[in-house]
Amino acid sequence: MNITNKTILITGGGSGIGFQMAKLFGSKGNKVIITGRSEDKLKQAATQLNNVSFIAGDVSDAASVDNLVNRITNEFGELNILINNAGQANVYKLGANVNAYDKAAGEMETNYLSVIRLTEKLLPLLTASKGSAIVNVTSIVAFVPGINLPTYAASKAALHSYSQALRYTLALTTGIKVFELMPPLVNTGLSVDIGGANGIDPEVVAQHLIDGMEADNYELHTGKTADMYQLFLSSPVAAMNALNQGRE
Ligand SMILES: NC(=O)c1ccc[n+]([C@@H]2O[C@H](COP(=O)([O-])OP(=O)(O)OC[C@H]3O[C@@H](n4cnc5c(N)ncnc54)[C@H](OP(=O)(O)O)[C@@H]3O)[C@@H](O)[C@H]2O)c1
Repeated sequence: MNITNKTILITGGGSGIGFQMAKLFGSKGNKVIITGRSEDKLKQAATQLNNVSFIAGDVSDAASVDNLVNRITNEFGELNILINNAGQANVYKLGANVNAYDKAAGEMETNYLSVIRLTEKLLPLLTASKGSAIVNVTSIVAFVPGINLPTYAASKAALHSYSQALRYTLALTTGIKVFELMPPLVNTGLSVDIGGANGIDPEVVAQHLIDGMEADNYELHTGKTADMYQLFLSSPVAAMNALNQGRE
């Protein structure tokens, strides 16, 4: 698909992968809106970038999402691409007294349920223009769970399944294209506690998304995710062992 002259919303666009997406999409002549909870972070990001505005908000809060949708409608009048990138992760291992329920609840709210609410509320705007798309950012752990991110992996698996259903449905009903970006370990704030310094650069991930969207490649297996996916197809157990080697 063509990705110039679009109005694009990137959740979690103030840092990491979302920031690099905002930079690349902005440099391609798109109007980019970034959102996140920290207004200071967004302001700082927007001043460094071209064609980028910000609206602060929490994607897991219904009133905040209503405000975001109203402001996009009133101030921009259109939306062509929604990138559901905001995410959070708890690094821990399952066991007794780890409070897994609360950790899982927070991850499901931010990484999965918020995407469902925001997407549904923005569908009228996305449907109103031709050439629209939705991008959901999942992860390599959406199909092979990492045991140090167990409930985060489950939230991404849920988002992966939802993305497949959304793609199939919207292709039949609206023509909106649904992409899923599945990065491996990336060097960002989110991955500091899981050796993120050894991960790939977030700019590489953002470029892979742009290349994939231009080629209409709907499920994007970035970097090492590609090999892990092939291993998973041939042997889910071998993939589980390979991803978790050294993490026991
Ligand atoms: N880093 C990796 O290794 C890796 C690998 C695979 C997939 N991913 C996925 O890539 C996406 C981006 O993560 P990242 O690695 O770039 O980490 P990051 O730099 O920590 O970015 C996450 C962004 O999400 C925003 N955010 C978190 N909770 C939010 C909420 N409730 N409402 C609005 N915004 C919220 C944060 O901003 P505020 O704190 O200001 O709200 C932050 O800007 C995530 O979905 C993550 O799961 C990351």
